[in-house]
Amino acid sequence: MADLGTNPGLKDRMGRPCHDLRISVTNRCQFRCRYCLPAEHVDVMRSQSASENKLSFDDITRIVEAYAELGVNKVRLTGGEPLLRKHLPQLVKSLKSIKGIDDLAMTTNGILLPQILDDLIKAGLDRVTISLDAIDDDLFAHITGTQHRAKDVLDVIDLCLASRLKQVKINTVIQKGINEHQVVPILEHFRGTAAVVRFIEFMDVGTLNQWHETQVMPSHAVLDLIAQHRPFHSKHPLKSGEVAKRYGFDDGQEEFGLISSVSQPFCGDCDRARLSSDGLVFQCLFASQGHDTKPHLDDPVALKEHINQWWQHRDDQYSVLRQKKDKHHPLPKIEMFVMGG
Ligand code: GTP
Ligand code: 5AD
Ligand code: SF4
Ligand code: SF4
Repeated sequence: MADLGTNPGLKDRMGRPCHDLRISVTNRCQFRCRYCLPAEHVDVMRSQSASENKLSFDDITRIVEAYAELGVNKVRLTGGEPLLRKHLPQLVKSLKSIKGIDDLAMTTNGILLPQILDDLIKAGLDRVTISLDAIDDDLFAHITGTQHRAKDVLDVIDLCLASRLKQVKINTVIQKGINEHQVVPILEHFRGTAAVVRFIEFMDVGTLNQWHETQVMPSHAVLDLIAQHRPFHSKHPLKSGEVAKRYGFDDGQEEFGLISSVSQPFCGDCDRARLSSDGLVFQCLFASQGHDTKPHLDDPVALKEHINQWWQHRDDQYSVLRQKKDKHHPLPKIEMFVMGG
């Protein structure tokens, strides 16, 4: 195969570049969030994890090197719960040394972070995003299906805010009738801190969460709740391809965000690819099939060429089609804990 050389101008069929690679380092998670991995379906995770033919850190590094040459500059480690994968600082160090990778973040439920945070930061981790759907302990336990208290995660967030991390974000998935009354208390809790809270519309990812559109609290309704509490203004995007719309409070420095994947899809400038822990590349959160990197791992030129071609053929825009009520989805969707959040 011919060497395509560096191609940071890589575009898909809709003219979208590839800037952001999200890497699931494991399928496993110790939480059982109802919208992602409900306890009654944990056998799905077990069966998929048993067959998990995990990429090594060297494999992941090779894949990221190929993506970096094609224009990726942002990497996010996800899962499952990424901190269940051992020796993660080694991977962070290796990825951070790749030319072109200037932003390395992680999305985590936070519980295992305290014992490894310093090592991750020393290795080069820039930012973390921590999931927190409720500040009320009982509701937190109900949503996450764990014995942990919201307080446990709040303590971890405090630790992160006091650390040398460049940014700390909070992901709050809002399910109508379940946790919208937590919106204001969560914002109040982080008043005066640098934490950026983002409220996410409940999405129809995977097949296990029994999603129905009536359970989606549209972002405009979340904004109404916030407006009754404290005046705010919208902020300009920092760059194209941003998932969250940004807002700032009129009477403070805090920023918050709304991720409106259902009511206002952002496929038009979606620049994200996802790599599963067993080496499949998914070019949309709702893709039915992944492209296998494993056969090409020993040949960097072929690996780059395949990645290049997969992206050039990409025409995914699931959330836009969902909004148009085009329900056609030929094959089963892949679970979010498999392809990475
Ligand atoms: P930054 O790197 O800080 O811009 O963070 P991010 O917003 O890209 O990452 P994060 O993992 O925090 O994403 C927040 C949430 O937005 C995810 O957990 C998903 O719920 C949702 N999301 C992220 N990317 C996509 C996407 O490509 N499509 C859809 N539909 N939802 C997405
Ligand atoms: N809808 C919206 N967000 C989801 N997440 C997981 N499942 C869903 C869903 N069905 C988010 C979680 C976590 C990130 C990995 O993905 O909030 O922060
Ligand atoms: Fe685990 Fe995150 Fe899924 Fe919850 S949303 S079950 S913490 S992977
Ligand atoms: Fe990107 Fe697919 Fe999400 Fe649209 S639905 S923003 S194409 S990942």
